[in-house]
Amino acid sequence: MKLTRRLDAITGWIDRERVADIGTDHGLVPFFLWEKGCPKVIATDISAPSLNKSRELCRNTDVEFRLGNGLQVLVVDEVDAVIVAGMGGILMVELLEAAKEVVKALDFLILQPMQASEQLRAYLYSAYRILDEKIVYEDGRYFEMMKVTYTGEPTTVDAIDYLLPKVALLRGDGDALAFLDHLIEKKRGIVTQIGDTDSGRERKATLQHEIERLEAWTRQNL
Ligand SMILES: C[S@@+](CC[C@H](N)C(=O)[O-])C[C@H]1O[C@@H](n2cnc3c(N)ncnc32)[C@H](O)[C@@H]1O
Repeated sequence: MKLTRRLDAITGWIDRERVADIGTDHGLVPFFLWEKGCPKVIATDISAPSLNKSRELCRNTDVEFRLGNGLQVLVVDEVDAVIVAGMGGILMVELLEAAKEVVKALDFLILQPMQASEQLRAYLYSAYRILDEKIVYEDGRYFEMMKVTYTGEPTTVDAIDYLLPKVALLRGDGDALAFLDHLIEKKRGIVTQIGDTDSGRERKATLQHEIERLEAWTRQNL
């Protein structure tokens, strides 16, 4: 089976682990991982119609299916890795917080937030280690994804680090470098559109500060 670049990058982090795909929907990820030879693949979704799509695609496989919320459908230590892709970063934080014992027993998690990656990274730096990061440009947008593991230990970082896929940037990945330029340009564009009100001036100052920090990080590290 041929996957999109985004799903290819996500599944590229899985070798032969026991794995659960949380929010499986179309079922491409569990099907691909079963084909690849993963010894146990669980596909889950909170929506019955979505889970049925996965069931249909994977009907001739031994993929298991669970209907329910996030990682709460998993038993501690029944998989080595979990994929949570295509949801908002804030929802991901809620799902991880709601299933701490399952999370602690995992070797790693793969997270691919559609929004709020900044808030997700802030949370991850409070108790996880970021093992790897990738940026994939596809269909006119950048997708951020990270491989992380629970440590229970906070990592002291600067607030600007919440915006940055540092592992991918420091490795010199092309899409990650383009993403950083895009991030800075997007913030510059917003600054030009903000009105001259008290709250507007405050927002502009915050954005300008972020732009300066991003530019300084670029000068110092790339
Ligand atoms: C946009 S699809 C993403 C499908 C696939 N993971 C991907 O990245 O292509 C999001 C899926 O997450 C499911 N979902 C949303 N909230 C969820 C939750 N709390 N627990 C499990 N699944 C959830 C939705 O029902 C939907 O099928």
